[in-house]
Amino acid sequence: MNKKWNGLYYPTKDFQKQANLNNKKIYKQASKDPIAFWSDLAKKELFWQEPFTETFSNKQTNFGPEIKWFSGGKLNLTENIFEHNISQSNSLSLRGGSQADEAIPTVEIASGSALAMTKSKVALIWEPENPDEQTKKYTYEELLSEVNKFANALKNLGVKKGDTVGIYLPIIPEIAISMLACARIGVVHLVVFSAFSPDALRIRLQTVKAKYLITADGYYRRGKTINLKQNADLGIENTNIEKVIVVKRAGNDIIWENSKNFWFDELTKNESNICPPEKMNSEDLLFVLPESGTTGQFLPIIHTTGGYTLQAKVTGKWVFDIKDGDVFWSTADPGWITGHTYSIYSPLLNGITTLLFEGAPDFPTTDRWAKIIEKNKVTILYTAPTAIRMFKQYGAESFKNCDISSLRVLGSVGEIIDAPTWLWHNKEIGKNKLPIVDTYWQTETGAIIITSLPGIGPTKPACAGLSLPGVNMNIFDENGKPCKNGVEGNLVMLPPYCPAIVRGIFGAPEKYKNVYWNLYGKDVYITSDRAIKDKHGIIKITGRADDVIKIAGRRITTSELESAVNNHPEISESAVIGIPDEIKGSTPLVFATYRGVKNKDEVTKEIEQEIKKSMGPIATPKKIYLVHELPKTRSGKIMRTLLKKLYFNENLGDISTLSNPETIEAIKKQITTNL
Ligand code: PRX
Repeated sequence: MNKKWNGLYYPTKDFQKQANLNNKKIYKQASKDPIAFWSDLAKKELFWQEPFTETFSNKQTNFGPEIKWFSGGKLNLTENIFEHNISQSNSLSLRGGSQADEAIPTVEIASGSALAMTKSKVALIWEPENPDEQTKKYTYEELLSEVNKFANALKNLGVKKGDTVGIYLPIIPEIAISMLACARIGVVHLVVFSAFSPDALRIRLQTVKAKYLITADGYYRRGKTINLKQNADLGIENTNIEKVIVVKRAGNDIIWENSKNFWFDELTKNESNICPPEKMNSEDLLFVLPESGTTGQFLPIIHTTGGYTLQAKVTGKWVFDIKDGDVFWSTADPGWITGHTYSIYSPLLNGITTLLFEGAPDFPTTDRWAKIIEKNKVTILYTAPTAIRMFKQYGAESFKNCDISSLRVLGSVGEIIDAPTWLWHNKEIGKNKLPIVDTYWQTETGAIIITSLPGIGPTKPACAGLSLPGVNMNIFDENGKPCKNGVEGNLVMLPPYCPAIVRGIFGAPEKYKNVYWNLYGKDVYITSDRAIKDKHGIIKITGRADDVIKIAGRRITTSELESAVNNHPEISESAVIGIPDEIKGSTPLVFATYRGVKNKDEVTKEIEQEIKKSMGPIATPKKIYLVHELPKTRSGKIMRTLLKKLYFNENLGDISTLSNPETIEAIKKQITTNL
């Protein structure tokens, strides 16, 4: 980006000229009547099988607001990807069903070029972890054909519209095919991150009472084979899973149960590649994605069809300036919301090529990402600050020997990108000319809600930017009054929110109300983030207001970590705090009371293993302190803030309310002697 003045960066003239959105009037236009703004976009951008009759409603119930977008409308997300994007003359052969003869209207694209799609355009590129293994490519026609075949196979197994299917797959093309096949036939998908433990899989499957699971025999991680089927077999114990579909990936030995297990390729081999898109109500469930929430609550977040499809599509077009020839690489695993929205749905809804990469960023060599960008001429790179910080530490050499000049937009998501990292990214990868969009959003918002638009700017390092046109974010103080510029407060979203906003918590409507709508009255959505606005309206996220720690962009609560620690028989209680980490943004630090029977080193190792097993290696604590007692108030509350101050050797303030002040010295000694 070109530096202009006062620490603000603006797009280059060339970029601005060609950008899909390059006039800041859009903000005013949208805020005048956001409902009319979204209504207009929904009509222009999406193909509706039946038009909607009411754009937005927000009925209050005992369980919080019942938000609806585009009521009365019927659509299918996959039809918006395939039939709607593939030019009309090519579109009919795979369409099938009674609608086969209807013409899909040519839709005027609100901003940006009309996409001249052909069915031979590449929709999906898949790069395997092993660079010697062959890249796979699917054209739009081929992808639709695979999606339809698998959708038919699911139907033949007995899966019905409205059922929920679990997907526990690594980053292989079948994860996209499975999600799209579910959306094709109106089946709700619940994707579980493949590195999650069997226990984490079980609780997710139990929550939605899924009867079907799609998994793989195994997958590769840093050259090792992970036996995913074994984890799946353990994870489905005590669930309602009746049938498990297995994709062949690693060819490893697995246990096979004939009555329960089905090979993906055998199921699809003889299926027809014609499957009509199910007619979905705008508010029908599209997917459920569980996340960690305040005070360790497990939140299976519900997203519905119409609003999500619209916001996924238009944010791609506006924020990443999607153009016809783009190759979009969102490095997120589809097991997370970024992977849902920007590795799969948004690029495909916009008719461009999306890239999925199976492996780790620096395996087998630190130039792996650069090689992938060069080989596939990636134009948009969307990733997390953790990855950028890692490359910053490796040094720009990782990118020096490859031609990465195809890149035209860089995106960041999931955590605060600190200014030094932003500046490094801008200089080394962006060559001081590419726009960097720092995008703020949440699993709950489904798609981006705060960012600087690349063709408009301004961008301020380490700050997310302005509310997206049509979205009204604000920062409130304790009394629910907007904070003055420069004053930190709680980040909130005001009506009409955004079309992709969370519609509920699966199976726990009271949690929906208590977590999101309980602070400032029934109309104000609470993000649980703290933020500051400057005089330009640019929002800077300053951290979480709850006990969530963002570790490498992942949401993990201190209470989840504490319960893993407390599983150890030698531990009676524990306190986890998040501390800054050079690469991962934040990392956990554990203080646990220990009975002193077993060897300390052994206990520490076992706790570490337990955390890795339940939350994945990313959550490995920086240090585990085994202590005799934790500092507590007289009412028994563990003083986590005090532990943080002790760790950073800060002034502890008044500790007279502690019931056990003598613990302070003991813990301090352990910290200073690193025991
Ligand atoms: O704390 C904010 C942080 O990530 C949280 C949402 O996490 P999750 O639901 O896992 O979704 C991550 C991908 C959208 C937010 O509440 N967060 C997200 N984006 C940013 C961010 N923090 C700072 N800057 C961002 N750009």
